[in-house]
Amino acid sequence: MGTFPIQNFFLFTARNKMIVIILMPSTKKNMKTAQLQKHLSLFCITFCLFLFAGAFSGNAQEQIKISHGPYLQAMTDSGVSIIWTTNKPATGWVELAPDDSSHFYQSERPQFFCTANGLKNVGTIHQVHLKNLLPNTRYRYRVYSQEVLKHEFVYVHYGNVAATGVYRKKPLTFTTHGRPGPFEFAVVNDIHERNNVLKQLLSQVDLANAGFIVFNGDMINASMNEEQVFGGFMDTATALFASETPMYYARGNHETRGPFASEFARYFPGIGGNLYYMFTKGNACFIVLDGGEDKPDSDIEYSGITDMDNYRTEQANWLAKVVQTDAFKNAKYKIAICHIPPADGWHGNQEIKKKWVPVLNKAGINIFIAAHEHRHRIQKSSGAIQFPVIVNSNNNIIKASISEKEARFRIFDTAGKLVDEWVVQ
Ligand SMILES: [Fe+2]
Repeated sequence: MGTFPIQNFFLFTARNKMIVIILMPSTKKNMKTAQLQKHLSLFCITFCLFLFAGAFSGNAQEQIKISHGPYLQAMTDSGVSIIWTTNKPATGWVELAPDDSSHFYQSERPQFFCTANGLKNVGTIHQVHLKNLLPNTRYRYRVYSQEVLKHEFVYVHYGNVAATGVYRKKPLTFTTHGRPGPFEFAVVNDIHERNNVLKQLLSQVDLANAGFIVFNGDMINASMNEEQVFGGFMDTATALFASETPMYYARGNHETRGPFASEFARYFPGIGGNLYYMFTKGNACFIVLDGGEDKPDSDIEYSGITDMDNYRTEQANWLAKVVQTDAFKNAKYKIAICHIPPADGWHGNQEIKKKWVPVLNKAGINIFIAAHEHRHRIQKSSGAIQFPVIVNSNNNIIKASISEKEARFRIFDTAGKLVDEWVVQ
């Protein structure tokens, strides 16, 4: 090929490799050499473009992975919802195994897909609703997602699969409700994306053995995007407990604000498709209500996007029916959970007092657990509100112990100091 003095070269990196491109010298003495230089330069440019394209397609070829979760929602005696996200559009399913001595790989496990109306959902947020489970039963589970590369006409092109581990670590588990006898649960609220406070408060709970944890609203400042939800509190919750211990979410007013607010139920579905719902555990029945916003719907702060008065009326109608069920009537302890307390304060407080409290009074509710005020107080029962209301501070945790003898609610601060206590007998 001959020898040429090297006059020009440049280098760049692509896909973590250093590439050196040599440009040939110009020499008037040899026309053939000049022509060769021209061809080689064109070749170099083409080669560069090829490598850059490769570098970009390399990013596109990032492997599918589970980016957040899985975590449990909507646990009942016979069902649970399992939620997770992936970094790429995918289908999702859960494989379920009994909690016996068999290895998860011993046999093919039944699959439960993330679907709607008979079609598998393709997306990055995955919800699988498991139904017809046995009460008071421990199950092992594994979540899967398969990347969907392209959906062309009737042909679906699939990519790789991501799944939670069952080989190098134990499969995840959950236990359905339905066990009689005592249990414990804990409530935190108004965390407003303070992961450190969430950790401090939850460190006081035996999370593996807790019946469940309640997030009583305002876990975020405003609903902006998915990363804020996970970065603000939900990744911490998943790491600490939420993959195996159920969490119930009573939506707060701050979750209703922002462009991502309407996505809430895709991440935190209530029971039966609503963010207000009822569930039982042991000898207690819990009614979770969605207090909505605290100011009138016409307030300038909501930009005309809320319809909370009608939503609270809808809940009042549901409430009137649910307190007539045997599950509610037969429960020894009847506990209401809602972010905003009933009171004579702002519009939201008054709405709750006017629309829900008469039903709750008549139904014999034992205690109402609220939040929202960023301070601790216990509002004793009175003529208008005939049950106590624990208004939990943004820096405290309620640890509740429910037994046949009593329902005891102890309130602790971040340092673990007992702040207050209330007992229902
Ligand atoms: Fe609030």
